[in-house]
Amino acid sequence: MPYQEDFGVEQFMDKYEEGIQHNLGETCCFSISLGELAKLSGNTFELDQDLQLTYGSIKGSDKLRSLIASMYGPEFNKDNVLVTNGAIAANFLIYYTLVGPGDHVICVDPTYAQLYSVPKMFGAEVSLLKLQKEDGFIPNIETLKKMIKSNTKLIIINNPNNPLGSAISTETLNDICQLCEENNIYLHCDEVYKPIFHSMPEGKSVPLSGCQLYDKAITTGSMSKAFSCAGLRLGWLISKDTQMLRDAASRRDYNTISVGMVDDKIAQYVLENREPLLKRNFELCLDNLQLLNSFIQESQGRFEYVCKPEAGTVCLLKLNGISDSMAFGKFIAEEYKILAVPGEAFGIPGTLRIGYGNSKKDLLEGLPLLQKAYDVWLGKKTNN
Ligand SMILES: Cc1ncc(COP(=O)(O)O)c(C=O)c1O
Repeated sequence: MPYQEDFGVEQFMDKYEEGIQHNLGETCCFSISLGELAKLSGNTFELDQDLQLTYGSIKGSDKLRSLIASMYGPEFNKDNVLVTNGAIAANFLIYYTLVGPGDHVICVDPTYAQLYSVPKMFGAEVSLLKLQKEDGFIPNIETLKKMIKSNTKLIIINNPNNPLGSAISTETLNDICQLCEENNIYLHCDEVYKPIFHSMPEGKSVPLSGCQLYDKAITTGSMSKAFSCAGLRLGWLISKDTQMLRDAASRRDYNTISVGMVDDKIAQYVLENREPLLKRNFELCLDNLQLLNSFIQESQGRFEYVCKPEAGTVCLLKLNGISDSMAFGKFIAEEYKILAVPGEAFGIPGTLRIGYGNSKKDLLEGLPLLQKAYDVWLGKKTNN
């Protein structure tokens, strides 16, 4: 059996999610019910009671794949899309299809650990491209260029970035694509937080998707984050490389068959009514980010951003004076019922990943408690 390292972030969330009261760990925009979406959009979801519950369409229904394709521009159609059980399955499928022993893979760091851990598990040699403060926490093209080897098969990026909230501009994406093209390398762009680009700095525009810029780029997306529907467990991969998609579909036959046909129908309804939902989620992220900004400003140096978030729903907070954030993360979960993911899950101790796309109540109640816990923790440590 190939060795697979533990998925720290998922294990931490799984252990504490159920017992907590203040969820500052959530990565999804506040999850929505069908009733609330009906109110927002004026259209109700109706399920045909005579619908026969077969496996449904194996790759995802034509209608759903067309809806997904339409979000990436007129050059895409349903044949460019493969539907999966969440983006987590789409990401896995890309690595299952493309990489193995003898291949070299480059992946940004920090990021969602699946993106470097699974290629390693499939036998690839993985090099991490460290995102640096002086580059605005986006890939440095010169460093990337130097990391490419003759056997580099795949470069993996995550835009917007989990956990930093940084965003890669179209210009930098173009540079990455050009490097890939010159060296015949596939590009995987995990874009599960697209299109929540809510706080782009002046002069930095909302980026295009990797799949729009390069024929051998594969973008993965999801109903979970921007569309508030993690419960559907529905994601996708989209690419102009139809041969890669055929190979991926062939691999997928062994572990998926199809996504649930009811989930497929609900996803169609959500995407058809996405405008008011995205408006709600943009406003929620912006409002909550303001709360977070004020909290940090008023914290008198206790907390600071590692990177001021530009997009997505998460950011990393530096805990000044606390280096063991894993112990602190457990402490706040157990004693204060607050969930926030320790930076150790991303290789950055002394930080916490905060999700600010969740309900306002979680932040309004959770942030003051977090500060209280911080003071108690440091007092406790000093007294010991
Ligand atoms: C960057 C990234 N990719 C993929 C996923 C998995 O998303 P999904 O719920 O669509 O499986 C996550 C979930 O947190 C994520 O942060």
